[in-house]
Amino acid sequence: MKTYIDTDPGLDDALAILAALRALELDVRGITTVAGNIGLPLTTRNAGSLVALAGREGLPVVPGAPGPLARAAIDASEIHGNDGLGAVTLPEPTEAPLDIPAADWLGTQVSEDAQILALGPLTNIAQMLRSHPNARPDRIIAMGGAIREPGNSGPKAEFNIAADPEAAAEVFASGIPLVLIPLDVTRRVRASAGWVAGLSDGPVARAAAELVSAFFQRGAGMDPTVTRPLHDPCVTIYALAPELFRGERMRLTVDLSHDGDTGALTAVPDPSSPIEVLMEVDAPGVLAALAGHLSD
Ligand code: BDR
Ligand code: CA
Repeated sequence: MKTYIDTDPGLDDALAILAALRALELDVRGITTVAGNIGLPLTTRNAGSLVALAGREGLPVVPGAPGPLARAAIDASEIHGNDGLGAVTLPEPTEAPLDIPAADWLGTQVSEDAQILALGPLTNIAQMLRSHPNARPDRIIAMGGAIREPGNSGPKAEFNIAADPEAAAEVFASGIPLVLIPLDVTRRVRASAGWVAGLSDGPVARAAAELVSAFFQRGAGMDPTVTRPLHDPCVTIYALAPELFRGERMRLTVDLSHDGDTGALTAVPDPSSPIEVLMEVDAPGVLAALAGHLSD
């Protein structure tokens, strides 16, 4: 299916993107970037570097929103480093990003036979829905939220939703079929030193190993007792192998407060909802699939 990746790379975004670019059945047509883990200039540059690393020169990289719809930006540089990629050196982008806002570009590209993999705050997608209401993808697969798990941005709030809660609320209310992959699933899919050692020795797999190693505290080395959650790669693997996950249909409300648990979700089971929230995962299956797609 035609696939667009909307992202804020980001160490775990990087792995998700590399796996998607190598999975030709996903037919990736472009990458739109958004401020999130780090500011927009760096998420855009990082996306260009990942395209170069994957040997996909010519694939459009399109910069989007430099900040959330209606509030000040937060970032996650304490996890992803000041460059967004934990100081891992990747090839320079070979081509300049397109000079058109991501929401407008997506709005002209997206149709019913396309899907969007959403790996960051949902700002670009909300802007696309506002400015191009007829641009309705077949589905959006988004990493975000926490249902029964604690959050990672607030007591119950997860970063991608907390970074732009108004955008998330608009996307959830759009009626577009949406698969949401919350922390309840992504925290179960964990990279270990053994998993990294099992990657092959080609250039993409070596870069992937360095990116995961950076995720294990940027250069401090791979402690064999520590594991780290691979949030965004779950989106790519769901797109390729949905049988590894199980979801429940839910209606979602986003906490839009400014002084509460901003971005926290309230979820109510609703069989008629267009939103399926993934709640169970075959984690070894996802890790094996990811390793396979990253290995040269
Ligand atoms: C999400 O937040 C970001 O830091 C990660 O890239 C991921 O998309 C996890 O909560
Ligand atoms: Ca991300």
